[in-house]
Amino acid sequence: MYPLDINRIACIGAGFVGGPLGAVIASKCSSVQVTVVDKDPARIHAWNSESLPLHELQLAEIISDIREHAEKSTECVKSRLIFSTDIQTAVQKAQLIFLCIDTPTRTSGPGSGFAPDLGNLKRAIEAIARTATDDKILVAKSTVPSGTSQVIRMLFEQHCRPDVKCEVLSNPEFLSEGTAIHDLLYPNRVVIGSQQTVSGKDAARKLAGVYQAWVPPSRIIFTDSLSAELGKLAANAMLAQRVSNINTLGTICEATGARIESVSQICGLDPRIGPHMLKASLGWGGGCFQKDILSLVNATRKLGLDQIASYWESVVWMNEHHKLNFQKRLVSCMGGSIKGRSITVLGFAFKKGTSDTKNSPAISLIRGLLACQAQVIIYDPMVPAKQIITDLHLTPGELERTTISHSPYSACSGANAVVVATDWDNFLCELSRNDEAQPLNWEHILKVMQEPKFIFDGRNILDCDFIRKLGGRYVRVGSPSEWDQLPVASL
Ligand code: UGA
Repeated sequence: MYPLDINRIACIGAGFVGGPLGAVIASKCSSVQVTVVDKDPARIHAWNSESLPLHELQLAEIISDIREHAEKSTECVKSRLIFSTDIQTAVQKAQLIFLCIDTPTRTSGPGSGFAPDLGNLKRAIEAIARTATDDKILVAKSTVPSGTSQVIRMLFEQHCRPDVKCEVLSNPEFLSEGTAIHDLLYPNRVVIGSQQTVSGKDAARKLAGVYQAWVPPSRIIFTDSLSAELGKLAANAMLAQRVSNINTLGTICEATGARIESVSQICGLDPRIGPHMLKASLGWGGGCFQKDILSLVNATRKLGLDQIASYWESVVWMNEHHKLNFQKRLVSCMGGSIKGRSITVLGFAFKKGTSDTKNSPAISLIRGLLACQAQVIIYDPMVPAKQIITDLHLTPGELERTTISHSPYSACSGANAVVVATDWDNFLCELSRNDEAQPLNWEHILKVMQEPKFIFDGRNILDCDFIRKLGGRYVRVGSPSEWDQLPVASL
């Protein structure tokens, strides 16, 4: 057991990690006051309003429970969770500061296209160091290259008062978007990397004391910072590689007649392999996999390990190839040209449960369809139209051929083909009904579509027989279809 010595925490960055993390700590540690700060006033305003800046299951409930509880209680509980732009006050009060700042891939300068941009993180550390009037524990949550904790420590020491000290911990976040609250409440591991000194280990125990309010001690792993940082990049690289593995096998199945679900099941039931991240799709996306693999590639290349860098880089290229392959298959099934054809894309988020669109496979698919002169209609239940337009970077000509629809039924009306690009539960057929979701009425969709009524299932979530009975030409990833131009071969 580790004592809970911390009662004032700040989270710097109110994004996908900082907001949910702050809310979960405030809900689980009643003696801790959490302040989540961000320099963007609009984002903080949203956190303080009824409509939160991001959609995550259970997040709104957790925050409203904390607020409701605060309204009913005495002044000490009133401010257990604060969202604010006042970084100075938050830093001065906090004993422990979580750094939850985004580190996107650099678009210019050294390492451009590969290395993460640590600019925002560095500016935040300088600001924290200049503001701090007493010792701090800084906890790096952002995914960063191995060795960054050391850089954070040096930066802090350069800018802080001579009597102020800091310990830097690496505590990478493993939550997935869409299940963030569940992942925070029931993590399969909490990794705490520290300097292997007395004060470093002491800081690590203090952080463990916070987590221990809801995480079993057996799930808390103590290690050095280098390993913690590398471990996070490695986990994402391996997960992305698994999805790419199954997707390459899916393409083999399309050419041979083998069934990808069976292949996944055969592999996944081996406990040494396990069943997760083996669902074939039109490609993986999100803000983390690509960024983290490229960061690993950059760091590996800097070590002079070129072959190892190329090995990991090929996971990213394989995903690009796979996304293109999906698009080519669609065109080929539709007779080799989709010029002037009306194609509806259902789903724009990179996966279900989130409104995040970063590196969504839908983006490159839609860009490809437009490049082939198709008319594209897009529907997503969560992603705002403005976001879709921003992500697509359309030319005026492409914009004219693009429609964003607010209803799946009007989106599919008159379509020659419908592509399921995101695995939203409400896209499911009635036959594979999931109790919580309101399934789409595919009977109606097939009625309002135009011939040849292709349904390309990029997530394998629809019921093949059902769609075919309704008159749809159903094509899914990882299984051959009679419209494929490829001959069925045996390997
Ligand atoms: C990923 C990791 O799973 C988290 O552990 C990690 O903390 C996070 O990155 C991060 O670094 O912040 P996330 O990007 O939210 O989480 O999404 P995943 O659920 O991993 O999915 C990534 C992509 O792979 C999605 O496009 C998803 O649809 C696709 N996918 C996933 C498949 O195509 N098949 C699968 O079987 C699983």
